Amino acid sequence: MDNSGAYFVAGALPEAASPAEPLPPWTSTQVVGARLPRVDAYERVSGTAVYPIDVVLPDMLYAGILRCPHPHARVKSVDLAPALALPGVRAALGPASPGADIPWYRAQGRAWSRLLDPHCRHQGDEVAAVAAETPYQVADALKAIAVEYEVLPFVLDEEQATAPGAPPVHEGGNRVGEPAVYERGDVAAGLAAAAAVVERTFRTACELHAPMEVHGSVVRWDGNRLTVWDTTQGVFAVQAEVARALGLPLAHVRVIGSYMGGGFGAKLEAGKYTVLAALLARATGRPVKLFLPREDTFLATGNRPANRLTVKLGAARDGTLTAIEITSLGAAGAYPASAAATFMATELYACPNVRARDETVFIHAGRARPMRAPGYPQCAWALEQAMDELAGKLGMDPLALRLKNVPRTAQRRGNLPYSTAGLEECLRRGAEAFGWERARRARPGQGTTRRGVGVAACFWGFSGGPPSTAIVKLFPDGSATLTMGASDIGTGTKTVMAMVAAEELAIPVERIAVEHADTGTTPYATPSGGSKTVPTDSPAVRAAAAAVRRQVLELAAAQLKRPVEELTLREGRVVAAADPSVSLPLSALEGLQRQGVLVGVGTRAPNPEGTVTVPFAAHFAEVEVNTATGEVRVLRVVAAQDSGRVLNRLTFDNQTLGGVVMGLGFALTEERILDPATGRMVNANLHDYKIPTMLDVPVEMACVAIDRPDEGFNSTGTKGLGEPATIPTAAAVANAVFHATGVRVTDAPITPARFLAAAGGKRG
Ligand code: MOS
Repeated sequence: MDNSGAYFVAGALPEAASPAEPLPPWTSTQVVGARLPRVDAYERVSGTAVYPIDVVLPDMLYAGILRCPHPHARVKSVDLAPALALPGVRAALGPASPGADIPWYRAQGRAWSRLLDPHCRHQGDEVAAVAAETPYQVADALKAIAVEYEVLPFVLDEEQATAPGAPPVHEGGNRVGEPAVYERGDVAAGLAAAAAVVERTFRTACELHAPMEVHGSVVRWDGNRLTVWDTTQGVFAVQAEVARALGLPLAHVRVIGSYMGGGFGAKLEAGKYTVLAALLARATGRPVKLFLPREDTFLATGNRPANRLTVKLGAARDGTLTAIEITSLGAAGAYPASAAATFMATELYACPNVRARDETVFIHAGRARPMRAPGYPQCAWALEQAMDELAGKLGMDPLALRLKNVPRTAQRRGNLPYSTAGLEECLRRGAEAFGWERARRARPGQGTTRRGVGVAACFWGFSGGPPSTAIVKLFPDGSATLTMGASDIGTGTKTVMAMVAAEELAIPVERIAVEHADTGTTPYATPSGGSKTVPTDSPAVRAAAAAVRRQVLELAAAQLKRPVEELTLREGRVVAAADPSVSLPLSALEGLQRQGVLVGVGTRAPNPEGTVTVPFAAHFAEVEVNTATGEVRVLRVVAAQDSGRVLNRLTFDNQTLGGVVMGLGFALTEERILDPATGRMVNANLHDYKIPTMLDVPVEMACVAIDRPDEGFNSTGTKGLGEPATIPTAAAVANAVFHATGVRVTDAPITPARFLAAAGGKRG
């Protein structure tokens, strides 16, 4: 399926040779499912948590990167001497320096560029780097580097990228591979048989990554071994890429993640900054800190690509879909990346006749990258607005049209049944919590103030799988350490994993310490992304704790002279299930006292065959539109989520509401703006690139958790949440705007100007 390659390797085996012992589903839980604050809540809110950007090492230098100011240029010469002559400057690298030719952006069997490439293909491409004693000296040194550019013609628009004569981004034309086409049934026949057909073209904006912690690393050499403190979603991915770039054994690259301030897909892979910092550190014999200024992150750390999507739907009189046709054109930016955006349309609704086509092109702008559900919010924007329009044409309620077409199987994946399928429940229970029927019938306001409601639905493509390994250590006082490779990207991973271990060991969460995200000390984990961290890693954590539990019960059986089957764990004690008077605190376990520690290793069992597991969601929004000014205010949102078992209702709500807010940015404000005359980004800062602030967030936001454990999928019954929590929000808002005003705004974001233009067009 599309876009999954960024998150895991299909068919990979778990780290440990012994397969995980099958664990029966939890019948009742003490810790799992509770509303618990995060295990690191105090550290996070008090500012005592040390993020990579906070790391300061003795004798450390600071570093920065000089970037190309043009959308397309060739570097004719770079003079580093004026920078090196400045006080405090200790090293500088240009395109001719050792290491500058390290291949970068590998895809389709070739390297598409170099670490410092004299051919710059977008504004922000890396040209040179310096290290100095202070950040101010770094800034002065970057200004002092003299670069001569040959400025070249550029192309920014995905439709013009493949036109004859368009300036090539790379040799061989501006198509990133051949268009991908999927087809089932007979779309022409399905459309011919339809009682109603809608067709419309939509465009989404290029959204920029804006995690709270900017990208960067602190690096230190210890002989020929490198330690990297990196703000990353995947320490092992960074280790592999940095080791390859520098020609080092994996064991000589230790990547420490610890806290990290958000990633959303922009920190799944290593950045050039880490390797540049390592080269500067080697040249100077000093540790180096290189964090990007916010402006640089907007130019060079990736984006959700803009997509042009055309959707054609056909349905019978009763609303049964007879055909779905969708085409997408998206921009990878200057280097290979996926801009595919049609997958969801091929499985969200039951339909025998489907055709989908994805085309991705190069343009002279920053590279696309995974961003919270890559491709899916774009697809929802188009498909779910087209469904809304189709409902109108059929005279049906848009909720009823969706319920009519709920699929029973994964139609693109062998028609296999879903292990659990919560789409219908998300639609029904979300509608009930929202008060859909009443809100839909309510009068839509007066004068220029109009109110309306809209709905949109989604699934997210997969739920992870092996490999994952976790380690639990139980100490003689009955406290435990959980060691896992996964990063906590802000979602509460440490907290929910500690809860899983606590559940299995029957000890309070407070008695568990979590060590995580360190290639030097923790077992392997795939990057935290793709909404797969909980369903991938929590079963390994449960298995590790269960391995300790088994050892505890065996030691206790010997000590108490009871059969092991009679014993269980309860509130920090071993007890005989049938006779509560037989009881032993963990701290009195003689075998554990002698041994010092019990170690359990757990692995993620393979996914079951014959079913497909995906999370579902349905979002409901109410908006108020000022038809005179074009302003849209979102009054309330209800998000119904089927993500299997809810491990912690508090972090579940956090994730969901965060996803909704991100979706509001997609719907209303977020947009990279490139100046067509100069090719430069005009809003590469947090003032002009508008992510939602507190004032944009509706007062009323609610999460409906379906909370049905998917016991057939894995031992914790969990599916993913992070991405399905944002996919349908924007489409629900657009549909609410239409309900309020009768104006269909096809291009995101719905700015006042776009609304007024669309409203004018309608009147005209
Ligand atoms: Mo992501 S786009 O789930 O890192």
